[in-house]
Amino acid sequence: MAAVIRMHPMLLQLTLTSFVFLSCLRNGNAGITSTFIRSEYPSVDIPLGNKVFAVPKGHNAPQQVHITQGDYDGKAVIISWVTPDEPGPSKVQYGTSENGYKFSAEGIVTNYTFYEYKSGYIHHCLVDGLEHDTKYYYKIGSGDSSREFWFTTPPKIDPNSRYTFGIIGDLGQTFNSLSTLEHYMQSKGQAVLFLGDLSYADRYQYNEVGLRWDTWGRFVEQSTAYQPWIWSAGNHEIEFMLIWEKLLLSNPIFSGMLLLIWPPKVAILFEPHTRQISSCITVGDGGNQEGLAGRFKDPQPDYSAFREAAYGHSTLEIINRTHALYHWNRNDDGKKIATDAFVLHNQYWGMNHRRRKLKKHYVRKSLEQIAIY
Ligand SMILES: *[C@@H]1O[C@H](CO)[C@@H](O)[C@H](O)[C@H]1NC(C)=O
Ligand SMILES: *[C@@H]1O[C@H](CO)[C@@H](O)[C@H](O)[C@H]1NC(C)=O
Repeated sequence: MAAVIRMHPMLLQLTLTSFVFLSCLRNGNAGITSTFIRSEYPSVDIPLGNKVFAVPKGHNAPQQVHITQGDYDGKAVIISWVTPDEPGPSKVQYGTSENGYKFSAEGIVTNYTFYEYKSGYIHHCLVDGLEHDTKYYYKIGSGDSSREFWFTTPPKIDPNSRYTFGIIGDLGQTFNSLSTLEHYMQSKGQAVLFLGDLSYADRYQYNEVGLRWDTWGRFVEQSTAYQPWIWSAGNHEIEFMLIWEKLLLSNPIFSGMLLLIWPPKVAILFEPHTRQISSCITVGDGGNQEGLAGRFKDPQPDYSAFREAAYGHSTLEIINRTHALYHWNRNDDGKKIATDAFVLHNQYWGMNHRRRKLKKHYVRKSLEQIAIY
């Protein structure tokens, strides 16, 4: 819980830029409330026995496999997994051809207790020294219970690198969550920016909390084992630079929000719920058990450009240094429907843009505004 907002000049500058940038958005297409409200599936958690939570076959087989970014420039990943019965190896074997695991890396293992619940053995292994833009195959576990996956590293840092993020908020583990996850997996997303609440296990008590963490880990593995999910929840702050720089702020004020820095000077603030906060893109529900935020504040506040009560996911496609494309994809009757899209222009690279001088006192005022919510 140690992270605080760092008031260093870069963040100040970036934060202000987000206000400047988003105020442009605001003036564009003000005040649309979509009339769409869907009710395809009830917002209840998928029962424990469902196949989406199935434990992989074999004694002590690795489960809940997930990867995240392991460095600042896209040449490392951290691979994590859980073994249920005994610690087993924390080794990752990997290589660039299928079944050709030329390299290996050693990780660590840990475990914890929460009330009656005893976690499995949680492994984390840093795999570094990778090449950019390369597909790697990896293998974890031992003997008959070993499992194999793959991931692709991002392109070299370059202002014109193309990269597509998926953006998912408040996923949960309902049938709506499953619909969102399946739709996301059909998109071109290469990494997920995950906002806000993870498993919604806080609806449970005592050891059931831990059990629902585990089911959630198994549920999302179909994506998390194959591409980095970058978490906005948690007690730590990660910064990295690829074609972007991202700050994760775990200060209570920013809890669950994620600031994406699109260099050199555009900041986009993503927020997981439907809280009232000026100047950000709120990503709707992935499928949590609380159900949809069906009631909005009326009249629509003037800071809100578009809002819709739907489950789904977003993608942010960075096309080059000047253009990025944002899509909101609604889950609708089992289909994915793109219902909102806009192009973000990185005006820093625009020739005629008058650069604004940033004044510190103005930035502080903006941050205070954020703190109000
Ligand atoms: C971790 O696992 C070991 C071995 O099974 C066990 O003795 C220990 O109590 C566990 N620690 C926690 C914090 O649960
Ligand atoms: C970036 O992509 C957009 C859309 O494809 C294009 O119009 C624009 O000219 C490109 N900019 C650069 C700098 O390549």
